[in-house]
Amino acid sequence: MFNLGILISGKGTNLENIYNFTQKFSNKIRISSVVCNNPEALGIDIAKKNNLPLEIINHNKFIDRVSFEKEIDSVFSEKKVDLICNAGFMRVLTSWFVNKWLNKQINIHPSLLPSYPGLNTHKRAINEGVKFSGCTVHFVRSKLDSGPIINQAVVPISPEDTEETLSKKILKAEHIIYPQAIRLISEKKLEVINNKVIYKEHFSPKEITINPSEGN
Ligand code: GRF
Repeated sequence: MFNLGILISGKGTNLENIYNFTQKFSNKIRISSVVCNNPEALGIDIAKKNNLPLEIINHNKFIDRVSFEKEIDSVFSEKKVDLICNAGFMRVLTSWFVNKWLNKQINIHPSLLPSYPGLNTHKRAINEGVKFSGCTVHFVRSKLDSGPIINQAVVPISPEDTEETLSKKILKAEHIIYPQAIRLISEKKLEVINNKVIYKEHFSPKEITINPSEGN
């Protein structure tokens, strides 16, 4: 069994999507733990609705970042987590945690990294008039939104797009590429060499990138 540990802080749409994905692979992949740092997060209801093992670990209750992270680490270790999936998780992690879970922690970011790391990606892309945005699944490194890229989806920006309409289009693409990345890792189809993701077998571009203009 490949155990996932999900970190959330907000709405939890990626959590719900990952849960639905694991239901199709229930004999191979499961969510063994959900940790939320924000006691007000809507994602808490999603975890409860699906009877997922949930721990609310409020970062405000800890004297420093590492003690907060040690609490998360002990929960995920106890739940025998094989891969941590940051899903709308809004805390920057120290190198202690990143190194402890090196290449066993991934994140989904709503831009085509390395373009637009950080926040407000849709607003920045629209304001700068770029024609494509998208989303990226990558391994977590200490530098924010900077780790080895696993897969990406391209989302065209149309002239009438607003931050909200673009966010909705990209979220749909996130919900395609995140399970795809999880499956590739669980099936050991990739490895990280010199900080770059190398696929162990040939994948057609269609299998690891999603380009809606090609109708997929
Ligand atoms: C998503 O755009 C995700 O890429 C970013 O946080 C946003 C909300 O994610 N990391 P979720 O709906 O809470 O899963």
